[in-house]
Amino acid sequence: MTITTCVFDAYGTLFDVSAAARRAAQEDAALGRCWQTLSEDWRRKQLEYSWLRAITGDHVDFTKVTGDALDWAMERQGLTDKGLRGRLMALYQVLDAYEEVPAMLAALKAKGLGTAILSNGSPEMLAAAVDSAGIGAQLDAVLSVEEVGIFKPAREVYDLVGARMGCTPEQVLFVSSNGWDASGASGYGFHTAWVNRGNLPMDRLSARPRHVLTDLTTIPELC
Ligand code: LAC
Repeated sequence: MTITTCVFDAYGTLFDVSAAARRAAQEDAALGRCWQTLSEDWRRKQLEYSWLRAITGDHVDFTKVTGDALDWAMERQGLTDKGLRGRLMALYQVLDAYEEVPAMLAALKAKGLGTAILSNGSPEMLAAAVDSAGIGAQLDAVLSVEEVGIFKPAREVYDLVGARMGCTPEQVLFVSSNGWDASGASGYGFHTAWVNRGNLPMDRLSARPRHVLTDLTTIPELC
């Protein structure tokens, strides 16, 4: 069946999650010495907390999860500056989009495809990120897990695509830089592309992504 709708994960896929710590490190000497480890811990803990909260049915929104993960990552580095914490959280609202994103989305729209974000992010975080990247006009929908109150890869989240975009799973290409998310979406029944920017090994999960790419440039050719 023809793909009619292209759906993107947000953080790490369209938006560079390391941009916040990288930018703040230019202004803060203590962070400058450890920003890469802090950024990796921040992301890893953010995802762990999202999975743990989904498994235990203890949902809070992604802003809270992101702040909790940052607190863990800062404590590990001995960073106690509340101003720095505020700065990092503010920068997370305005992450850089990867450079190929605007042209890739424009090419999808030129082909007449439906486009959407499906993300763990809260609606406020996603609106700020889309706004600062200037890509709102190229997106038909920005779907947040807050509508169902559980994080990916719960199936209820992937259900939002059909409900809101009016398509079947076989009509969807789901794109994520998170191997576990691409795998979850494959198991759900979407066509999938895993954007493996870091040249990481494939996750050992039941379903595998259909396509493996190094960036988003060739997405329009898959639709
Ligand atoms: C998201 C996270 C998982 O945007 O990257 O949903």
